[in-house]
Amino acid sequence: MKLTKTVSELRSFLAAKRAAGLSVGMVPTMGALHAGHRSLMERARRECGVVVASIFVNPTQFGPHEDFARYPRPLDRDLELCRDVGVDGVFVPEAQEVYPAGFTTWVDVEGPLSSTLEGAVRPGHFRGVATVVLKLLLMALPSVAYFGQKDAQQACLVRRMVRDLDVPTTICVCPTIREADGLALSSRNVYLTEAQRRQAPVLYQSLEAARAAAASGQNMTDRLKELVKERIAAASEARLDYAEIVDPDTFLPVAAVEREALLVLAVRFGSTRLLDNAFLSPPSAGAH
Ligand code: PAJ
Repeated sequence: MKLTKTVSELRSFLAAKRAAGLSVGMVPTMGALHAGHRSLMERARRECGVVVASIFVNPTQFGPHEDFARYPRPLDRDLELCRDVGVDGVFVPEAQEVYPAGFTTWVDVEGPLSSTLEGAVRPGHFRGVATVVLKLLLMALPSVAYFGQKDAQQACLVRRMVRDLDVPTTICVCPTIREADGLALSSRNVYLTEAQRRQAPVLYQSLEAARAAAASGQNMTDRLKELVKERIAAASEARLDYAEIVDPDTFLPVAAVEREALLVLAVRFGSTRLLDNAFLSPPSAGAH
């Protein structure tokens, strides 16, 4: 497995692979890798000739009072996981490689995709995400890049950006990987206290309750959101940031579940924010 730290090292590594006829699959990450990241890498391994993962804790997507400094950085363990999956190359740039002195060009995906929900709670977050993702795609020029449905708004925004800017990369969005009790894997789960961890499956449980209600005919999103809020409120350590039901392509709120809709949820446990989401469908029309 090749470790690269500069854009030119990464490019010459991939150029040789491309010259040998291999398609490039890329998995952008911030490290602290877990089974969720692993599932993206395994998918890339199955589908692409050469797999490159990036590990970069991107400073520009963190707000001034967020956890950039304390974000976990277990590099040796991360490299071990990549090696174990059969990743061919890992790109681990320093901040000045990605943001050289004088850096002043940003990617803004305008509208609700970047300004609502996560974008409203974390101003500037999606500008940082879009900018670094576009840069990573331009550095590696992968045929396919893999993202997780766990960060639904991010995945949707990346798809929009790639479409808008004619980036020649297919965006593949992969299912959320969960613990046995339903908690979505996240690098931030390590921040949870024992008591918080015990209550954290309430996100998944409330999503499932809403899914079941929608599937059995409750299509009013106000009622479905109420159901989620009641469940979250019953967990003493949890504080709801938002529970919203949106169109999966635009992230605009919908009033009724008439076709597939996305329930997105953000909950705070102390200073730790957990995200999760689920697709809601109306009772299966025409399923005979
Ligand atoms: P990070 O949080 O490290 O996540 C990297 C990728 O793994 C993202 O596409 C994310 O959605 C996916 N992922 C995280 N948890 C997952 C889970 N439980 N199941 C499936 N996939 C999961 O997201 C980022 O980094 C950054 O914003 C990045 C895109 C790298 C830009 O800096």
